[in-house]
Order: sequence, then C-alpha cells, then structure tokens
Amino acid sequence: MEKRGVLYLGKAKSVYETDDPDRLILEFRDDTSAFDGKKVEQLDRKGMVNNRFNAFIMEHLKEAGIPTHFERLRSETECEVKRLTMIPVECVVRNLSAGGLCRRLGVEEGLTLDPPTFELFLKNDEKGDPMINESLAETFGWATRQQLQLAHELTLRVNDVLRQLFLEGDMLLVDYKLEFGLFHGEITLGDEFSPDGCRLWDAQTREKMDKDRFRQGLGEVIEAYEEVGRRLGVRFD
Ligand code: C5P
Repeated sequence: MEKRGVLYLGKAKSVYETDDPDRLILEFRDDTSAFDGKKVEQLDRKGMVNNRFNAFIMEHLKEAGIPTHFERLRSETECEVKRLTMIPVECVVRNLSAGGLCRRLGVEEGLTLDPPTFELFLKNDEKGDPMINESLAETFGWATRQQLQLAHELTLRVNDVLRQLFLEGDMLLVDYKLEFGLFHGEITLGDEFSPDGCRLWDAQTREKMDKDRFRQGLGEVIEAYEEVGRRLGVRFD
C-alpha cells in the first residue's frame, strides 16, 4: 500500500491517505499534549510505544469480536487502518472516579463506580469537548439513535474485555475514551487505545501508569507506558 499526503494532523497522531480509498495510515508521533493542547512536549519513544501498544490492544479486541479499524502494523510508528467516517463523539467509561468526574462532581478520587459510568462528549477542541447526551447528538445530527446505542454496547463490551486483561497484569482500568466511525455503514472502533487515552493504576499501590503522569508532572511517563506493555507481554525492542 502506498502512502500519500496528510489527511489530518492530530495532537499526537498524523493520518495519511493511501492509494487505497478504503485504507489510511496512522502515524504515532512523540508529541504529547494535555489540557486541550496547552501543555505540549516531545517524549522520546512514545510514538513507537503507543503504536505497538495500540496494535496489541486492537488485536485483542478484534479476537474478542469487537469490530475495529485496525489492520496491521506497518513500521515502528505506523499502522494501517480502515478509513472510517468518524462520529464526532467521545465515549467515556469509568470504573473508578478520577479526572474530570472528580472535578465536575466534587467526588474524591478512587471511588469504585458500580455500575461503571458512561458519558458522551462532543469532539470539539474549540469548545473544550463539552459533555453531551444521546438527545443532543441525535438532534444535531452527530449520530443516530441506533449508532449511539451500538457505540454504547461496544464501549461496555470493551470494558469487560480490557478490565480483565489489565487485571491479569495487576492493573486497574480506571477509565478510558473510545471513538467510533462507520466503515461502509458499520459501526467500527476507530482512533487508538493507549495509555494516552485511558487511566491505569497499579492494582496494589494505585500508582498512576498513564498520561496523568504527564498531566501532573510526575515524570517517568514513557517508562510507565512501557511497564504497562511489559506486564501484558507487548514487546518494544
Ligand atoms: O478528563 P476525563 O477524566 O473526563 O477523561 C476520562 C478518560 O478519557 C481519561 O482516561 C482520559 O485520558 C480520556 N480522554 C481522552 N481524550 C479526551 C478526553 C478524555 O483520551 N479528549
């Protein structure tokens, strides 16, 4: 497959067109951003680590029957994916309280959320990704009821699969964000799954092993990402 021009430059990934109208190439860069792009740094090895980690998780989800856009690894920092028409909505599931939930509701960090919560946010940097609901998404045409229902079901199935996977590596899946799109009309998981877009804590010490290390200036960000991968058997060399 031949790589063509840039289709979209995200904060941490670049998306390229290819000679196949149904396929794109995702490039994971070392750029790391937080607080709507207000804090940006280059973290050595991050592109490679997230590319390999994402491939591992996407393959695992595929085996569990979740339709994903992931096709194959292409290089150290690139993978090939199906070209989706993205739904501009972020689906967030939380198993433990942290981050935005604590800020919004004033609850303490680390409460067990049973059942896990499910939230929708509009993907819109300018507006700071405001929280929305099914009614708003339907009325403004961001997604249909049926698409939202399917995205909801898939997001919770991903929770069952990944919570178990991380627990086997002695980690707690605190929360995560997923994005979906349509491939020839079929709801399909897009974007990425990496420690950039989820929270993971050591199950014993509750030490943070995700992008909160960057957001909160805790240091050893990529070392923590690599440790997450190592515990799951992902190879980075
Ligand atoms: O900030 P908040 O607590 O709402 O984030 C919930 C989860 O979704 C976190 O794991 C965070 O990393 C992820 N997220 C993301 N991209 C966003 C918003 C949230 O990856 N734009």
